[in-house]
Amino acid sequence: MKDKILKKLVCPICSVPDKSDTRLSMVTDTKANESPTLFCNNCQSRFAPIDDILNLAGDVINPRLFSSQWTMEFGPIVTAYEEIWRPCVTSIVSSLKWEMKTSQLFMDVSSGMNILDLACGTGNFTRLFSDSARPGTVIGVDLSLPMLKQYRHKLKEQNNTDIMLMRVDVTKWPFAPETFDRIHCAGALHLFPDIQNVFNSIYRSLKRGGCFVGATYLIEENIVLNNLQKYITEVHGFHWFDQQELRNLSSKAGFTEWEHRTYRQGIVFKVKKL
Ligand SMILES: C[S@@+](CC[C@H](N)C(=O)[O-])C[C@H]1O[C@@H](n2cnc3c(N)ncnc32)[C@H](O)[C@@H]1O
Ligand SMILES: [Zn+2]
Repeated sequence: MKDKILKKLVCPICSVPDKSDTRLSMVTDTKANESPTLFCNNCQSRFAPIDDILNLAGDVINPRLFSSQWTMEFGPIVTAYEEIWRPCVTSIVSSLKWEMKTSQLFMDVSSGMNILDLACGTGNFTRLFSDSARPGTVIGVDLSLPMLKQYRHKLKEQNNTDIMLMRVDVTKWPFAPETFDRIHCAGALHLFPDIQNVFNSIYRSLKRGGCFVGATYLIEENIVLNNLQKYITEVHGFHWFDQQELRNLSSKAGFTEWEHRTYRQGIVFKVKKL
């Protein structure tokens, strides 16, 4: 598993997209059943796991109080995330059940695929893909250590060794070019800074013929809901998309074959790297 993963990674500190992809190596004293410490021979960065979760996102920094990332790291919300928080919050603008069904349909996973779930949280979407992908590789990544720890706890309870978790900040992209058959991201595109860069990174790390499936939310025209959205933007830094904006981000990155479905403000889209 560790060797399989290593081939998929580059140094998030010194790799320069389309110029130099610095591969990482494993520090040799890591025990077989523990997450490895990785090392970059080029910039000498060392990536030690935190709480036995592979960490490529640097130090854990306390997010600003009540910011969106703060909620994603706040213990009681993380515990209630899947059963209560996510379905309830989503019901204001869309439907989680619909999002999951549509994402699964668009992902169209088959046996042996390599799959990356960005901002996987506690793995509610990731697990939709892992059975069909076997014996491929499924990697779930997120910035929130509490979310990842909650997910790892669940995986251990289920004796599931199919899914690999990593702490990753999508703005410091650690994945090698032409690596995945599918990349998925639900509930988070509206949170990322420099979103064009994230689309570019996703495009680069997909194999030719691979697809990106994203689930996010559109600007509401109804005046009351639109004001609510503006308030959420002010407090939590959410970005509500215009459909054309998502299409432009995709095509600027190089994607083609745009497909989408909407349900109220929810949108799930699929694009392809030819
Ligand atoms: C609303 S949750 C979505 C979780 C899951 N995908 C879902 O749809 O329910 C948003 C996630 O994005 C993660 N996130 C925010 N900024 C990130 C970044 N820069 N890199 C990686 N993950 C990030 C948060 O930690 C959080 O777990
Ligand atoms: Zn490096």
